Amino acid sequence: MIQVDQRALGASGLTVPAMGIGIWSWGDTRYWQYGKNYTREDVSRAYRACLDAGLNFFDTAELYGSGASERLLGECYREVGQPIIIASKFAPFPNRFSAHSLLQALDASLERLGVAQIDLYQIHWPYSLINTNALMDALAEAVRAGKVRTVGISNYSAKLMHKAHARLARHDIPLASNQVHYSLLHRNPESNGVLEACRALNVALIAYSPLEQGLLTGKFRVSSSDIVPVSRMRRLQSPNFRRSQLLKMEPLMQTMEAIGQEHNKTIGQVALNWLLCRDEVVIPIPGARNERQASENAGAIGWRLSPEEFNQIDSASRAWL
Ligand SMILES: NC(=O)c1ccc[n+]([C@@H]2O[C@H](COP(=O)([O-])OP(=O)(O)OC[C@H]3O[C@@H](n4cnc5c(N)ncnc54)[C@H](OP(=O)(O)O)[C@@H]3O)[C@@H](O)[C@H]2O)c1
Repeated sequence: MIQVDQRALGASGLTVPAMGIGIWSWGDTRYWQYGKNYTREDVSRAYRACLDAGLNFFDTAELYGSGASERLLGECYREVGQPIIIASKFAPFPNRFSAHSLLQALDASLERLGVAQIDLYQIHWPYSLINTNALMDALAEAVRAGKVRTVGISNYSAKLMHKAHARLARHDIPLASNQVHYSLLHRNPESNGVLEACRALNVALIAYSPLEQGLLTGKFRVSSSDIVPVSRMRRLQSPNFRRSQLLKMEPLMQTMEAIGQEHNKTIGQVALNWLLCRDEVVIPIPGARNERQASENAGAIGWRLSPEEFNQIDSASRAWL
């Protein structure tokens, strides 16, 4: 496998490619129309395209496709046989009252993936009947059992990050990452203290929806003939896809398009590179449903926007800060 830029997963000692691959869509028939808009073969090809590009860090969750995403990742892993780095997540559903449910869910994830250990195991969101300390203690138990290599959280505020970090420290386990929504159209981590907390605590910020569900590839511009597929309820529900919002985004799109042309890069590649240039702790995980998307997204690494270009894009996206 070719070697690409690596980033530290916080203080965990684990390094990963500077960009991962989000595989929420794999096997998800509800939102992502698996089996209709794309097939098992598309998933296999996307997987291979990622490895060919040196990207072997995959983010899944027990929730994605009700386990189908984990199953497909395990199948692809066995088909190709090259080493990969797996991140998955525990879903703290309201019917899960005790921290023991985390260990049961972890066993089920390991079985679906067909591996003995998950490299990064994350709590999917903080709203839970199980308190933060008990969840962190359960993560520590999973590490001690050898079923998990490093641990992380997702959708946690800066305040809760500090709490999780402190509790894990009692077990001598570093908090590796906080996975949050971060893109040029959703810059909340810069204003709500999460990016700052990641820097201060040496925790990686794994940026989800970094292409804002495809909007930041430029394929849904007001000028574009591409329309939002009716089947994609998630997009129809999102205010970002309204015409008024698309019009508001147009100056940002034009800025990224012009800068991309200088580097022979697409709008999506520029959007991902901006996140990579924003801070060394940021690791974007764009989703890809087929080989074309995986290969295009992989072209976001291995180069850098100049400081002037970075600032131009920064200014054009200030409305989303
Ligand atoms: N922790 C959490 O709560 C949470 C929440 C959301 C996501 N995530 C993670 O973050 C990952 C990525 O987020 P995301 O899937 O929401 O959004 P995203 O990465 O912003 O967008 C992914 C979607 O954009 C389109 N796309 C991707 N690359 C493209 C390209 N090169 N050209 C054109 N279209 C392209 C594809 O959809 P179409 O083909 O349908 O256009 C793809 O499924 C997820 O897979 C998941 O692992 C985590």
